[in-house]
Amino acid sequence: MTLPKEIVGFAIVSEDGMLADAQGVMPPALKFEADQKFFAAGMDRVDAAIHGRHSHEMQPHSPRRKRITLTRQIASIARDPANPKGILWNPGGTSFEQAWRALDLPDGKLGVVGGTDVFTLFLPRYDVFYLTRAPGVTLPGGRPVFSGVPPQTPEQVLAAHGLGLVSTQVLNPAQNLTVTEWRRG
Ligand SMILES: NC(=O)c1ccc[n+]([C@@H]2O[C@H](COP(=O)([O-])OP(=O)(O)OC[C@H]3O[C@@H](n4cnc5c(N)ncnc54)[C@H](OP(=O)(O)O)[C@@H]3O)[C@@H](O)[C@H]2O)c1
Repeated sequence: MTLPKEIVGFAIVSEDGMLADAQGVMPPALKFEADQKFFAAGMDRVDAAIHGRHSHEMQPHSPRRKRITLTRQIASIARDPANPKGILWNPGGTSFEQAWRALDLPDGKLGVVGGTDVFTLFLPRYDVFYLTRAPGVTLPGGRPVFSGVPPQTPEQVLAAHGLGLVSTQVLNPAQNLTVTEWRRG
């Protein structure tokens, strides 16, 4: 079965584990230049992106990448009419393996960029997950990075799915902004 050579997740979350506020909007409080640079560089190391219909990358090189957008508006797999490099995928209609095959990227790497349902769907599959923490930011009633948060923390969810903490990188010391790297095995 064809699968990506590597599956990499990227998220920035509030202290209470939210990726967006109660309205489903990613607020300015979650946007940091150092994290944006880290994210852009990480996505430049993968060949394709996958996300839900309400998420996006908006990085300088995003248009270069192939893309899978999740939606229930189609039965299984379809060309994305809005993106010549994109396909639409409904996991309720067909498997991820079929969607990946449709993208035609043998040996390619995949970047998972959210939101909640998509980050959760790939928990059994991540090779690596980069989790950035926005210090001092809480988003009560917001959208969690994974289902199960709360009561669990994002770190507890990653550990429960077989990922272990391998490093912590300071992205901006003045902002106390750090990203943790979680790897399988
Ligand atoms: N902080 C971060 O790192 C980060 C990362 C990503 C996103 N965000 C933010 O989070 C917000 C959006 O997140 P979200 O969780 O609400 O939305 P999302 O996952 O981007 O999009 C939700 C939509 O994706 C489709 N979808 C998701 N899971 C699916 C499944 N299992 N099967 C079929 N279709 C599926 C559905 O589309 P249809 O309605 O077409 O069926 C659903 O309405 C935005 O503000 C975004 O900027 C933040």
